Amino acid sequence: MADFFTFEQLHDFPALTPPARLAVIGDPIGHSKSPQMHNPALQACGIDAQYVRIQVPIGRVKEAFSLFVKQGFLGVNITIPHKFEALDAVDVVDPLARQLGAVNTLAIRDGKMFGYNTDGPGFLRSVKEAFGAEIRDLRVLVIGAGGGAGRAVAVQSVIAGCRDLVLANRTEAKLEPLVEELRKVASAQTRLQTCSLEHAGLMQHLPEVDLIVNATSVGMKSGDAALLPGGALESRHLVYDMVYRASGPTELIQQATVAGAKHADGMCLLLHQGAISFEHWFDRPAPLEAMRAGLLKA
Ligand code: ATR
Repeated sequence: MADFFTFEQLHDFPALTPPARLAVIGDPIGHSKSPQMHNPALQACGIDAQYVRIQVPIGRVKEAFSLFVKQGFLGVNITIPHKFEALDAVDVVDPLARQLGAVNTLAIRDGKMFGYNTDGPGFLRSVKEAFGAEIRDLRVLVIGAGGGAGRAVAVQSVIAGCRDLVLANRTEAKLEPLVEELRKVASAQTRLQTCSLEHAGLMQHLPEVDLIVNATSVGMKSGDAALLPGGALESRHLVYDMVYRASGPTELIQQATVAGAKHADGMCLLLHQGAISFEHWFDRPAPLEAMRAGLLKA
């Protein structure tokens, strides 16, 4: 089977066995591991459907969604660069997706398009699974809070009751608007601080945070500069690198390992956001272990 289908093919989608009823869209999309996670889940639940990749160009998301409805699809995951365009392309936006400012999951029910965000809730579930902790009990540092992923983590953390949040970003000017936005959803007791990505700035905050989240793209390539100086982490730190690198652990995960600190990576987020998408589509618990095994195999 092709690695991915094209937008043009959506007009007259090929008949597959099992039939294509779920998809992930993005541009590019050939690298997505979502089918290897969702197809085992569909098999485990005895659902006669398959999950495919479809490359959709920027500006065509609304049109693609209408074609998904026409072709009898049940749901779609939306990845880079379409999560913002998707927000305006659905009939009903879930309130949390509205707050997070992005839609990454479409569920089609009786011809109507419902948009959700499973990245934020997936982050909370993965923190719970990896660290046995609730975000409301943690002091959190988000490195890369000015990017799309970092912003979602920051907003979701505050909504979930986090009382102490440090926001760091290479371009510091992006942090002030985010703080203003967070103030609207945060409780009066919530402490929001900002800092630069300079090692000295980050080091000042490390003693007073529990969870450190890397939401930058640093670490995707081996040889990327380390975000933190060597020896900066303590064994009590919880380290969440949203980057997943197939070629081996990122520098940050390596530093956490050396420090004896618990850690999680982007694979954990992919798994839990995928499980929540599955729950939106089928209104039943996702077969998490089948999904995890599929991802590990991929
Ligand atoms: P997205 O918005 O989809 O999350 P992005 O625009 O690439 O992706 O931003 C990702 C984050 O990685 C941003 O916080 C970005 O910092 P800037 O706001 O300063 O651009 C951060 N980032 C990317 N490359 C970086 C690097 N080499 N060093 C530090 N931060 C970096």
